[in-house]
Amino acid sequence: MQRIFSGIQPSGIPTLGNYLGAIRNWVKLQDDHECIYCVVDMHAITVWQDPKLLPIQTRELAASIIACGIDPKRSILFHQSAVRAHAQLAWIFNCVARFGWLARMTQFKDKAGKDRENASAGLFVYPNLMAADILAYHATRVPVGEDQRQHLELANDIAQKFNHDYGVNFFPPIEALILGPAARVMSLRDGTKKMSKSDPSDQSRINLNDDPDTIALKLRRAKTDPLPLPSEPEGLEKRPEARNLVGIYAALADLDVADVLREYGGAGFSRFKEALAELMIAKLAPIAAETRRLLADPATIDAILREGAARAAAIADPIVAEAERLVGFLRA
Ligand code: AMP
Ligand code: TRP
Repeated sequence: MQRIFSGIQPSGIPTLGNYLGAIRNWVKLQDDHECIYCVVDMHAITVWQDPKLLPIQTRELAASIIACGIDPKRSILFHQSAVRAHAQLAWIFNCVARFGWLARMTQFKDKAGKDRENASAGLFVYPNLMAADILAYHATRVPVGEDQRQHLELANDIAQKFNHDYGVNFFPPIEALILGPAARVMSLRDGTKKMSKSDPSDQSRINLNDDPDTIALKLRRAKTDPLPLPSEPEGLEKRPEARNLVGIYAALADLDVADVLREYGGAGFSRFKEALAELMIAKLAPIAAETRRLLADPATIDAILREGAARAAAIADPIVAEAERLVGFLRA
C-alpha cells in the first residue's frame, strides 16, 4: 500500500480552493492508501502570524479537515510543530538543495513580491521543509493543487541529490496527485489569480465557514463576462472567469466540464450562478455545521492531534535517524 502525505497551512480559514484542490481528494484516498495529513504551522510562520491566533487557527483547521471527511482513526492527522523530525530533516535538506533551485521557485517570487530583501529566510527555504515533510515518512504520493507542482519537482530533486551525494537509494521518488476539474480554483474577482486564504478581499473567495447567504451573494457578485456559456469546453479558452465557475460546478457535482456544458451551454450567468450557489450551499453547509459542532469540544480535537503526532513520530523518527546516520552525524 502506498503512503500518502499532504499538508495545509493554518494561515486562515480554508477556502473552496483548499477543499476542491486538496482536502476532497485526501478524503477519497483514505479508502486505498495509508494517509498522513498535516496542519503545517511551521510553514505558516514563514510569513507573520499572530501568536494568539495561530493555535486557534491550527485547531480550527484540524476540525474543518475532519468535518470534510478525514477520519482520524484511519488517517493520521497532526500538526507539524509537534513532530520534531520535520525540522531535523529540513536542516539536512537546507544543505542539500541549491540556492539557485530555490531562487527559481515562483511561489517565493510571488509571496516575497517587490520587497524580497525583507522576506524571511524561512520563506526562501520553505520548499526544503515541504520536501522534509514528505520524505520523513518515505511517502510516495502527494495530493495537492496545481500551485504546488513546482515544489514537488524540487522535492524530487532534493531526494535524488541526497541519494547521489551519499551514494544510497534511501529516499523514494514522489508522485504529485493533481486531481479533478478544480485543481486550480481562481479568485472570484479575477480569473487569472488563484483563490487564496490570504487575499485581502474576502469577496475573492468562498470560505468553508461562509453561511448560505454569503455564498449566494459572493457568487452573484463574482466577475464574469457578457457572453452566455459555451456548449463545449474549448469555448472556455480565454474566458478565465467562466472556466473557473464551470470547473467549480463540475468538481462539486462530480461531473466533467463537458457534462456541465451539455446542460448549461447557452445559459446566461445569472441562471448558472443560481444553480452553482444551490449546489455549493448543499455541499458546504454540512461541512460548516460539522466544524462548528466539533469546535464546541476543543479538548477532543487536541487529543486527536496529540494522538496523530505520536503515530506520525513513530514513522518519521527512525527514517530521519537513518538520514542523520547517512550524513555522518556522530552518535556517541
Ligand atoms: P495552502 O492553503 O497554501 O496551505 O494550500 C493547501 C492545499 O490546498 C495545497 O494542496 C494547495 O495546492 C491547495 N490549494 C490552495 N489554494 C488552491 C486553489 N485556489 N485551487 C486549488 N487548490 C488550492
Ligand atoms: N506548501 C503547501 C501549500 O501551501 C503545504 C504543504 C506543506 C504541503 N508541506 C507539504 C503539501 C507537504 C503537500 C506535502 O499548499
